[in-house]
Amino acid sequence: MFSKQTIQKFQHTPTPFYYYDLELLKNTINALKKESDKYGYHVHYALKANANNEILSVIQNSGLGADCVSGNEVKKASDLEFDKIFFAGVGKSDEEINVALDRNITCFNCESLQEIEVINELAQKKNKIAPIAFRINPNVNANTHKYITTGLEENKFGINVWELEEVVKRTQQLKNIKITGIHFHIGSQITDLSAFKSLCLRANEIQSWFISHKITLEHINVGGGLGVDYHEPDKNSIPDFAAYFSLFKEFLELRPNQTLHFEIGRAIVAQCGSLISKVLYVKKGVTTSFVILDAGMTELIRPALYQSYHKIENISVMVNGQGLMDNGKMPLAISHQPSSMHRYDVVGPICESSDCFGKAVMLPETKRGDLVAIRTTGAYGEVMASQYNLREKVKAIYSK
Ligand code: LLP
Repeated sequence: MFSKQTIQKFQHTPTPFYYYDLELLKNTINALKKESDKYGYHVHYALKANANNEILSVIQNSGLGADCVSGNEVKKASDLEFDKIFFAGVGKSDEEINVALDRNITCFNCESLQEIEVINELAQKKNKIAPIAFRINPNVNANTHKYITTGLEENKFGINVWELEEVVKRTQQLKNIKITGIHFHIGSQITDLSAFKSLCLRANEIQSWFISHKITLEHINVGGGLGVDYHEPDKNSIPDFAAYFSLFKEFLELRPNQTLHFEIGRAIVAQCGSLISKVLYVKKGVTTSFVILDAGMTELIRPALYQSYHKIENISVMVNGQGLMDNGKMPLAISHQPSSMHRYDVVGPICESSDCFGKAVMLPETKRGDLVAIRTTGAYGEVMASQYNLREKVKAIYSK
Protein backbone atom coordinates (compact mmCIF):
# COMPACT_ATOMS: atom_id res chain seq x y z
CA MET A 1 0.00 0.00 0.00
CA PHE A 2 1.45 3.38 -0.97
CA SER A 3 0.85 6.69 0.75
CA LYS A 4 -0.47 9.63 -1.23
CA GLN A 5 2.96 11.31 -0.89
CA THR A 6 4.72 8.25 -2.28
CA ILE A 7 2.48 8.11 -5.34
CA GLN A 8 3.02 11.82 -5.89
CA LYS A 9 6.78 11.17 -5.80
CA PHE A 10 6.32 8.39 -8.39
CA GLN A 11 4.61 10.89 -10.69
CA HIS A 12 7.87 12.83 -10.91
CA THR A 13 10.14 9.82 -11.47
CA PRO A 14 10.93 8.42 -14.95
CA THR A 15 9.38 4.97 -15.40
CA PRO A 16 9.73 2.04 -15.22
CA PHE A 17 11.51 1.59 -11.89
CA TYR A 18 11.55 -0.63 -8.85
CA TYR A 19 10.36 0.95 -5.64
CA TYR A 20 11.62 -0.53 -2.38
CA ASP A 21 10.00 0.12 0.95
CA LEU A 22 13.02 -0.12 3.25
CA GLU A 23 10.87 0.31 6.33
CA LEU A 24 8.95 -2.85 5.44
CA LEU A 25 12.23 -4.63 4.72
CA LYS A 26 13.53 -3.73 8.19
CA ASN A 27 10.27 -4.78 9.84
CA THR A 28 10.39 -8.09 7.97
CA ILE A 29 13.96 -8.77 9.10
CA ASN A 30 13.07 -7.85 12.69
CA ALA A 31 10.12 -10.26 12.62
CA LEU A 32 12.35 -12.99 11.19
CA LYS A 33 15.12 -12.45 13.73
CA LYS A 34 12.67 -12.38 16.63
CA GLU A 35 11.51 -15.89 15.69
CA SER A 36 14.83 -17.44 14.60
CA ASP A 37 16.67 -16.07 17.66
CA LYS A 38 14.20 -17.87 19.92
CA TYR A 39 15.86 -21.14 18.91
CA GLY A 40 19.38 -19.87 18.13
CA TYR A 41 18.94 -20.60 14.41
CA HIS A 42 21.25 -18.95 11.83
CA VAL A 43 19.70 -17.29 8.81
CA HIS A 44 21.70 -16.60 5.65
CA TYR A 45 20.19 -14.23 3.11
CA ALA A 46 20.09 -15.76 -0.40
CA LEU A 47 21.63 -12.97 -2.47
CA LYS A 48 20.16 -14.39 -5.65
CA ALA A 49 16.73 -13.03 -4.66
CA ASN A 50 17.89 -9.42 -4.79
CA ALA A 51 21.46 -8.16 -4.91
CA ASN A 52 20.64 -4.46 -5.03
CA ASN A 53 23.24 -2.54 -2.97
CA GLU A 54 20.76 -0.62 -0.78
CA ILE A 55 18.85 -3.80 0.00
CA LEU A 56 22.06 -5.69 0.77
CA SER A 57 23.28 -2.95 3.04
CA VAL A 58 20.09 -3.08 5.16
CA ILE A 59 20.35 -6.87 5.35
CA GLN A 60 24.06 -6.90 6.17
CA ASN A 61 23.49 -4.36 8.94
CA SER A 62 20.95 -6.68 10.51
CA GLY A 63 23.66 -9.33 10.97
CA LEU A 64 22.29 -12.10 8.73
CA GLY A 65 24.76 -14.42 6.99
CA ALA A 66 24.95 -14.82 3.20
CA ASP A 67 24.05 -17.61 0.80
CA CYS A 68 25.79 -17.20 -2.56
CA VAL A 69 25.56 -19.07 -5.85
CA SER A 70 28.32 -17.48 -7.93
CA GLY A 71 31.84 -16.17 -7.52
CA ASN A 72 30.58 -12.63 -7.96
CA GLU A 73 27.99 -13.08 -5.22
CA VAL A 74 30.75 -14.41 -2.96
CA LYS A 75 32.90 -11.36 -3.78
CA LYS A 76 30.02 -9.01 -3.12
CA ALA A 77 29.01 -10.62 0.17
CA SER A 78 32.63 -10.67 1.31
CA ASP A 79 33.25 -7.03 0.23
CA LEU A 80 30.17 -6.01 2.19
CA GLU A 81 31.53 -7.97 5.16
CA PHE A 82 28.63 -10.37 5.50
CA ASP A 83 29.21 -12.75 8.34
CA LYS A 84 29.29 -16.49 7.46
CA ILE A 85 29.19 -16.97 3.70
CA PHE A 86 27.90 -20.21 2.19
CA PHE A 87 28.57 -21.00 -1.46
CA ALA A 88 26.11 -23.28 -3.26
CA GLY A 89 25.57 -24.20 -6.90
CA VAL A 90 25.63 -27.26 -9.08
CA GLY A 91 28.30 -25.86 -11.44
CA LYS A 92 30.99 -23.92 -9.60
CA SER A 93 33.86 -23.02 -11.95
CA ASP A 94 37.51 -23.33 -10.87
CA GLU A 95 37.76 -19.56 -10.87
CA GLU A 96 34.75 -19.23 -8.59
CA ILE A 97 36.08 -21.88 -6.21
CA ASN A 98 39.38 -20.01 -6.02
CA VAL A 99 37.57 -16.78 -5.17
CA ALA A 100 35.72 -18.55 -2.35
CA LEU A 101 38.94 -20.14 -1.06
CA ASP A 102 40.71 -16.77 -1.11
CA ARG A 103 37.84 -15.17 0.80
CA ASN A 104 37.88 -17.97 3.42
CA ILE A 105 34.14 -18.60 3.25
CA THR A 106 32.35 -20.58 5.95
CA CYS A 107 31.22 -23.48 3.79
CA PHE A 108 30.99 -24.86 0.25
CA ASN A 109 27.69 -26.66 -0.31
CA CYS A 110 28.78 -29.45 -2.65
CA GLU A 111 26.66 -31.29 -5.15
CA SER A 112 28.90 -34.09 -6.49
CA LEU A 113 32.03 -36.08 -5.73
CA GLN A 114 33.72 -34.62 -8.78
CA GLU A 115 33.13 -31.11 -7.47
CA ILE A 116 34.56 -32.05 -4.04
CA GLU A 117 37.65 -33.49 -5.72
CA VAL A 118 38.19 -30.27 -7.67
CA ILE A 119 37.79 -28.17 -4.49
CA ASN A 120 40.33 -30.46 -2.77
CA GLU A 121 42.82 -30.01 -5.58
CA LEU A 122 42.45 -26.22 -5.67
CA ALA A 123 42.60 -25.97 -1.87
CA GLN A 124 45.77 -28.07 -1.86
CA LYS A 125 47.46 -25.61 -4.23
CA LYS A 126 46.66 -22.83 -1.79
CA ASN A 127 47.62 -24.92 1.20
CA LYS A 128 44.14 -24.55 2.65
CA ILE A 129 41.48 -26.83 4.12
CA ALA A 130 38.08 -26.23 2.52
CA PRO A 131 35.04 -26.68 4.78
CA ILE A 132 32.27 -28.46 2.91
CA ALA A 133 28.69 -29.65 3.38
CA PHE A 134 27.13 -32.36 1.25
CA ARG A 135 24.06 -31.09 -0.55
CA ILE A 136 21.80 -34.11 -0.37
CA ASN A 137 18.77 -34.59 -2.54
CA PRO A 138 16.11 -35.63 -0.01
CA ASN A 139 13.54 -36.63 -2.64
CA VAL A 140 10.85 -34.52 -0.96
CA ASN A 141 8.15 -32.88 -3.06
CA ALA A 142 7.81 -29.14 -2.38
CA ASN A 143 4.49 -28.92 -4.26
CA THR A 144 5.50 -25.75 -6.03
CA HIS A 145 6.01 -24.71 -9.67
CA LYS A 146 8.03 -27.33 -11.57
CA TYR A 147 10.74 -24.81 -12.49
CA ILE A 148 11.43 -23.97 -8.84
CA THR A 149 11.25 -27.43 -7.32
CA THR A 150 14.70 -28.80 -6.59
CA GLY A 151 14.49 -31.62 -4.07
CA LEU A 152 13.36 -34.50 -6.28
CA GLU A 153 15.63 -37.20 -7.67
CA GLU A 154 14.69 -36.12 -11.19
CA ASN A 155 16.20 -32.66 -10.52
CA LYS A 156 19.85 -31.90 -11.25
CA PHE A 157 20.56 -30.80 -7.69
CA GLY A 158 22.41 -32.55 -4.89
CA ILE A 159 23.84 -35.96 -4.13
CA ASN A 160 21.33 -38.81 -4.11
CA VAL A 161 20.98 -40.80 -0.91
CA TRP A 162 21.99 -44.02 -2.65
CA GLU A 163 25.32 -42.43 -3.69
CA LEU A 164 26.12 -41.15 -0.22
CA GLU A 165 28.17 -44.11 1.04
CA GLU A 166 30.64 -43.88 -1.81
CA VAL A 167 30.83 -40.07 -1.90
CA VAL A 168 31.41 -39.76 1.85
CA LYS A 169 34.00 -42.54 1.95
CA ARG A 170 35.98 -40.97 -0.85
CA THR A 171 35.68 -37.45 0.63
CA GLN A 172 37.09 -38.67 3.96
CA GLN A 173 40.29 -39.58 2.13
CA LEU A 174 40.79 -36.07 0.76
CA LYS A 175 43.41 -34.16 2.76
CA ASN A 176 42.30 -30.62 2.00
CA ILE A 177 38.60 -31.09 2.71
CA LYS A 178 36.83 -30.87 6.05
CA ILE A 179 33.30 -32.27 6.24
CA THR A 180 31.29 -29.81 8.37
CA GLY A 181 27.64 -30.35 7.54
CA ILE A 182 24.78 -31.43 5.34
CA HIS A 183 22.62 -29.23 3.17
CA PHE A 184 19.15 -29.47 1.62
CA HIS A 185 16.97 -27.18 -0.46
CA ILE A 186 13.69 -28.53 -1.75
CA GLY A 187 12.35 -25.58 -3.74
CA SER A 188 11.00 -22.07 -3.60
CA GLN A 189 7.65 -20.31 -2.98
CA ILE A 190 6.53 -23.13 -0.71
CA THR A 191 3.22 -22.26 0.94
CA ASP A 192 2.27 -25.67 2.28
CA LEU A 193 4.50 -25.98 5.34
CA SER A 194 3.99 -29.75 5.50
CA ALA A 195 6.72 -30.02 2.82
CA PHE A 196 9.18 -28.68 5.41
CA LYS A 197 7.96 -31.24 7.93
CA SER A 198 8.73 -33.99 5.39
CA LEU A 199 12.16 -32.45 4.91
CA CYS A 200 12.81 -32.50 8.70
CA LEU A 201 11.88 -36.18 8.97
CA ARG A 202 14.10 -37.04 6.03
CA ALA A 203 16.97 -34.96 7.47
CA ASN A 204 16.67 -36.88 10.77
CA GLU A 205 17.05 -40.18 8.93
CA ILE A 206 20.06 -38.92 6.99
CA GLN A 207 21.65 -37.52 10.15
CA SER A 208 21.25 -40.99 11.77
CA TRP A 209 23.10 -42.49 8.83
CA PHE A 210 26.03 -40.11 9.47
CA ILE A 211 25.99 -40.92 13.18
CA SER A 212 26.06 -44.64 12.41
CA HIS A 213 29.14 -43.94 10.26
CA LYS A 214 30.72 -42.06 13.19
CA ILE A 215 30.71 -38.72 11.39
CA THR A 216 29.89 -35.68 13.52
CA LEU A 217 28.18 -32.86 11.66
CA GLU A 218 28.71 -29.33 12.96
CA HIS A 219 25.70 -28.03 11.12
CA ILE A 220 22.55 -28.82 9.21
CA ASN A 221 21.38 -26.43 6.52
CA VAL A 222 17.77 -26.72 5.40
CA GLY A 223 17.95 -24.15 2.57
CA GLY A 224 15.22 -21.64 1.87
CA GLY A 225 11.88 -21.71 0.12
CA LEU A 226 9.36 -20.10 2.46
CA GLY A 227 6.61 -18.63 0.26
CA VAL A 228 4.90 -15.24 0.36
CA ASP A 229 1.33 -14.10 -0.34
CA TYR A 230 1.27 -12.73 -3.89
CA HIS A 231 -2.50 -12.24 -3.73
CA GLU A 232 -2.73 -10.16 -0.54
CA PRO A 233 0.52 -8.21 -0.27
CA ASP A 234 -0.93 -5.64 2.13
CA LYS A 235 -2.75 -8.05 4.41
CA ASN A 236 0.18 -10.47 4.65
CA SER A 237 3.15 -8.19 4.10
CA ILE A 238 5.30 -10.20 6.55
CA PRO A 239 5.44 -14.01 6.23
CA ASP A 240 4.52 -16.23 9.16
CA PHE A 241 8.06 -16.77 10.45
CA ALA A 242 6.73 -18.02 13.80
CA ALA A 243 5.00 -21.01 12.21
CA TYR A 244 7.98 -21.68 9.94
CA PHE A 245 10.75 -21.77 12.55
CA SER A 246 8.65 -23.52 15.20
CA LEU A 247 8.04 -26.34 12.74
CA PHE A 248 11.79 -27.01 12.52
CA LYS A 249 12.05 -26.78 16.31
CA GLU A 250 9.33 -29.42 16.59
CA PHE A 251 10.45 -31.88 13.93
CA LEU A 252 14.18 -31.53 13.30
CA GLU A 253 16.44 -33.30 15.79
CA LEU A 254 19.64 -31.41 16.42
CA ARG A 255 22.60 -33.00 18.22
CA PRO A 256 24.44 -31.20 21.05
CA ASN A 257 26.40 -28.19 19.75
CA GLN A 258 24.99 -28.64 16.27
CA THR A 259 23.74 -25.47 14.55
CA LEU A 260 20.79 -25.14 12.19
CA HIS A 261 21.04 -22.85 9.17
CA PHE A 262 18.50 -21.42 6.73
CA GLU A 263 19.03 -19.75 3.34
CA ILE A 264 16.07 -17.45 2.93
CA GLY A 265 15.62 -15.14 -0.05
CA ARG A 266 12.09 -14.47 -1.21
CA ALA A 267 10.44 -14.29 2.22
CA ILE A 268 12.80 -11.46 3.22
CA VAL A 269 12.60 -9.20 0.18
CA ALA A 270 9.56 -10.02 -1.99
CA GLN A 271 6.95 -7.80 -0.37
CA CYS A 272 9.11 -4.70 -0.01
CA GLY A 273 9.45 -4.26 -3.78
CA SER A 274 7.04 -3.07 -6.48
CA LEU A 275 7.63 -2.47 -10.15
CA ILE A 276 6.18 0.91 -11.08
CA SER A 277 5.30 1.46 -14.70
CA LYS A 278 3.37 3.91 -16.88
CA VAL A 279 0.53 3.07 -19.25
CA LEU A 280 1.64 3.83 -22.78
CA TYR A 281 -1.53 2.85 -24.61
CA VAL A 282 -4.90 1.26 -24.05
CA LYS A 283 -5.86 -0.82 -27.06
CA LYS A 284 -9.13 -2.56 -27.84
CA GLY A 285 -8.80 -6.26 -28.68
CA VAL A 286 -11.50 -8.66 -29.86
CA THR A 287 -12.42 -10.06 -26.46
CA THR A 288 -10.49 -7.80 -24.13
CA SER A 289 -8.70 -4.48 -23.92
CA PHE A 290 -4.94 -4.34 -23.57
CA VAL A 291 -3.19 -2.05 -21.16
CA ILE A 292 0.28 -1.64 -22.67
CA LEU A 293 2.91 -0.69 -20.11
CA ASP A 294 6.38 0.78 -20.48
CA ALA A 295 7.71 -2.12 -18.35
CA GLY A 296 7.97 -5.56 -19.86
CA MET A 297 9.42 -9.00 -19.32
CA THR A 298 12.82 -7.30 -19.48
CA GLU A 299 12.11 -5.70 -16.10
CA LEU A 300 10.10 -8.58 -14.58
CA ILE A 301 10.32 -12.00 -16.19
CA ARG A 302 8.47 -14.07 -13.56
CA PRO A 303 5.02 -14.02 -15.23
CA ALA A 304 6.50 -15.01 -18.61
CA LEU A 305 8.78 -17.68 -17.15
CA TYR A 306 6.64 -19.27 -14.44
CA GLN A 307 3.16 -17.98 -15.25
CA SER A 308 3.40 -16.36 -11.83
CA TYR A 309 0.71 -14.12 -10.42
CA HIS A 310 1.47 -10.58 -9.28
CA LYS A 311 -1.18 -8.21 -8.02
CA ILE A 312 -1.55 -5.24 -10.39
CA GLU A 313 -2.94 -1.89 -9.25
CA ASN A 314 -3.72 1.38 -11.03
CA ILE A 315 -2.23 3.75 -8.47
CA SER A 316 -2.99 6.95 -10.39
CA VAL A 317 -6.69 6.28 -10.09
CA MET A 318 -6.15 5.67 -6.38
CA VAL A 319 -4.54 9.04 -5.87
CA ASN A 320 -6.23 11.26 -8.45
CA GLY A 321 -9.53 9.97 -9.58
CA GLN A 322 -11.01 8.48 -6.50
CA GLY A 323 -9.48 10.22 -3.53
CA LEU A 324 -6.94 8.09 -1.73
CA MET A 325 -7.03 8.75 1.99
CA ASP A 326 -3.95 10.17 3.71
CA ASN A 327 -3.07 6.77 5.20
CA GLY A 328 -2.78 5.45 1.65
CA LYS A 329 -6.00 3.43 1.83
CA MET A 330 -8.86 3.63 -0.63
CA PRO A 331 -12.26 4.42 0.85
CA LEU A 332 -14.04 1.06 1.07
CA ALA A 333 -17.01 2.25 -0.94
CA ILE A 334 -14.73 2.93 -3.90
CA SER A 335 -12.30 0.02 -3.74
CA HIS A 336 -15.10 -2.53 -3.76
CA GLN A 337 -17.39 -1.09 -6.41
CA PRO A 338 -17.49 -3.79 -9.10
CA SER A 339 -19.42 -1.55 -11.49
CA SER A 340 -16.45 0.81 -11.79
CA MET A 341 -14.06 -2.02 -12.72
CA HIS A 342 -13.00 -3.09 -16.22
CA ARG A 343 -11.31 -6.20 -17.50
CA TYR A 344 -7.85 -5.77 -19.10
CA ASP A 345 -4.91 -7.85 -20.25
CA VAL A 346 -1.89 -6.02 -18.85
CA VAL A 347 1.09 -6.45 -21.19
CA GLY A 348 4.57 -5.10 -21.85
CA PRO A 349 6.08 -3.62 -25.02
CA ILE A 350 8.40 -6.53 -25.94
CA CYS A 351 7.82 -8.47 -29.19
CA GLU A 352 6.96 -11.73 -27.42
CA SER A 353 3.46 -12.99 -26.71
CA SER A 354 4.62 -14.18 -23.29
CA ASP A 355 5.32 -10.55 -22.39
CA CYS A 356 2.13 -10.37 -20.36
CA PHE A 357 1.84 -9.45 -16.66
CA GLY A 358 -1.74 -10.55 -16.19
CA LYS A 359 -4.79 -11.64 -18.14
CA ALA A 360 -8.34 -10.51 -17.30
CA VAL A 361 -7.10 -8.14 -14.62
CA MET A 362 -9.89 -6.09 -13.04
CA LEU A 363 -8.89 -2.42 -12.84
CA PRO A 364 -10.71 0.88 -12.66
CA GLU A 365 -10.95 2.56 -16.07
CA THR A 366 -7.33 2.94 -17.13
CA LYS A 367 -5.87 5.47 -19.54
CA ARG A 368 -2.60 6.56 -21.11
CA GLY A 369 -0.25 8.10 -18.54
CA ASP A 370 -1.68 6.25 -15.51
CA LEU A 371 0.83 4.66 -13.14
CA VAL A 372 0.54 0.95 -12.46
CA ALA A 373 2.16 -0.94 -9.57
CA ILE A 374 3.08 -4.60 -9.99
CA ARG A 375 3.33 -5.82 -6.44
CA THR A 376 5.50 -8.33 -4.57
CA THR A 377 8.41 -7.96 -6.96
CA GLY A 378 11.25 -7.45 -4.48
CA ALA A 379 12.45 -11.05 -4.98
CA TYR A 380 13.65 -12.36 -8.36
CA GLY A 381 12.51 -9.14 -10.05
CA GLU A 382 15.26 -6.57 -10.59
CA VAL A 383 17.90 -9.24 -10.27
CA MET A 384 16.49 -11.23 -13.21
CA ALA A 385 16.03 -8.15 -15.42
CA SER A 386 17.68 -8.16 -18.83
CA GLN A 387 18.48 -5.65 -21.54
CA TYR A 388 16.85 -7.68 -24.32
CA ASN A 389 15.87 -5.34 -27.17
CA LEU A 390 18.68 -3.04 -25.94
CA ARG A 391 16.40 -1.77 -23.22
CA GLU A 392 17.78 0.47 -20.48
CA LYS A 393 18.92 -1.15 -17.25
CA VAL A 394 16.00 -0.84 -14.83
CA LYS A 395 16.41 1.74 -12.05
CA ALA A 396 15.37 1.68 -8.42
CA ILE A 397 14.18 4.21 -5.87
CA TYR A 398 13.70 3.77 -2.13
CA SER A 399 11.51 4.92 0.71
CA LYS A 400 13.68 6.57 3.30
N1 LLP B 1 19.14 -21.97 -1.26
C1 LLP B 1 19.26 -22.54 -2.47
C2 LLP B 1 20.21 -23.65 -2.64
C3 LLP B 1 18.48 -22.10 -3.55
O1 LLP B 1 18.61 -22.68 -4.74
C4 LLP B 1 17.55 -21.04 -3.35
C5 LLP B 1 16.72 -20.55 -4.44
C6 LLP B 1 17.46 -20.46 -2.07
C7 LLP B 1 18.26 -20.97 -1.04
C8 LLP B 1 16.52 -19.33 -1.75
O2 LLP B 1 15.21 -19.72 -1.92
P1 LLP B 1 13.99 -18.75 -1.49
O3 LLP B 1 14.01 -18.58 0.01
O4 LLP B 1 14.17 -17.46 -2.19
O5 LLP B 1 12.80 -19.46 -1.94
N2 LLP B 1 13.60 -17.29 -9.85
C9 LLP B 1 12.59 -18.09 -9.15
C10 LLP B 1 13.10 -18.61 -7.84
C11 LLP B 1 14.34 -19.46 -7.97
C12 LLP B 1 14.86 -19.96 -6.64
C13 LLP B 1 16.18 -20.60 -6.81
N3 LLP B 1 16.77 -21.07 -5.60
C14 LLP B 1 11.33 -17.24 -8.96
O6 LLP B 1 11.29 -16.12 -9.44
O7 LLP B 1 10.36 -17.72 -8.39
